Amino acid sequence: MTQSVQDRLEFAIALAAKAGALAASMRAGLGRPDAKSPIDFCTEADRAVERLVTEQIRTRFGDAVIGEEYGGAASDSVWVVDPIDGTNEYIHATRRWCVSIAYVRAGVTEVGVIYAASDDRLFSARRGEGAFLNGRRMAVSGLAHGSVPVIEAGWSDRVPIGDYAALLQRLEALGFEFRRHGSGALALAEVAAGLNDGYVELHMNAWDALAGLLLAHEAGGVVNDFLADDGLTKGNLVVACTPEIGDRLMEAARWRS
Ligand code: IPD
Ligand code: CA
Repeated sequence: MTQSVQDRLEFAIALAAKAGALAASMRAGLGRPDAKSPIDFCTEADRAVERLVTEQIRTRFGDAVIGEEYGGAASDSVWVVDPIDGTNEYIHATRRWCVSIAYVRAGVTEVGVIYAASDDRLFSARRGEGAFLNGRRMAVSGLAHGSVPVIEAGWSDRVPIGDYAALLQRLEALGFEFRRHGSGALALAEVAAGLNDGYVELHMNAWDALAGLLLAHEAGGVVNDFLADDGLTKGNLVVACTPEIGDRLMEAARWRS
């Protein structure tokens, strides 16, 4: 049994591709989703993909796994898995969903892989080694487009809608243009790829956030310390962006704390 971080990166890349293909293959015959809340759903594909990913990780490495649908406990060597991020998008058959897999050792995210099966985009990063999209190195936007920063501002009903409205007002006042596309993990990967200038959400769970935050950081972005204050088990604020707007976006996001 090998134990290196590099082995885990390579394994995660192959596993994310396999997991995304399974989710894509299940999309056509999807039954009725279970509602976890009025806007939060789980499908048979979410469960099947998480079972596949968890089983393969345990068989290969014997590591702990925390997943969105089946939970799991923290450990010094733990994988954090969102089988389908953007489940609502998946249900509605848009292209904005992905598989997100992170590996955390001794409280530090070492590996982050996100696979968007709909357009075959594989985002991968190992801490200290840069971030890649289908094998090509990525970089945050650097505001190279020369116009107003365009960011995504995510929301779930874990946060009062009034707080989200207040966040949007602050973003507008601070000169941001914003979107909400339904997959926080994919939005973070796209920060890394320079396709949007930043991402902010007042609360995300670790399975939605960790892989994407490592990607954004390794692509030269500024990110908040998500794992502080028990972020692994309780979730946390998420901020990731190109450095030119780091202070401004943190200011917009932190007015509550
Ligand atoms: C959600 C999505 C959404 C984000 C929420 C997440 P799910 O995950 O990432 O964009 O705003 O915080 O819970 O339910 O689609 O896996
Ligand atoms: Ca999710």
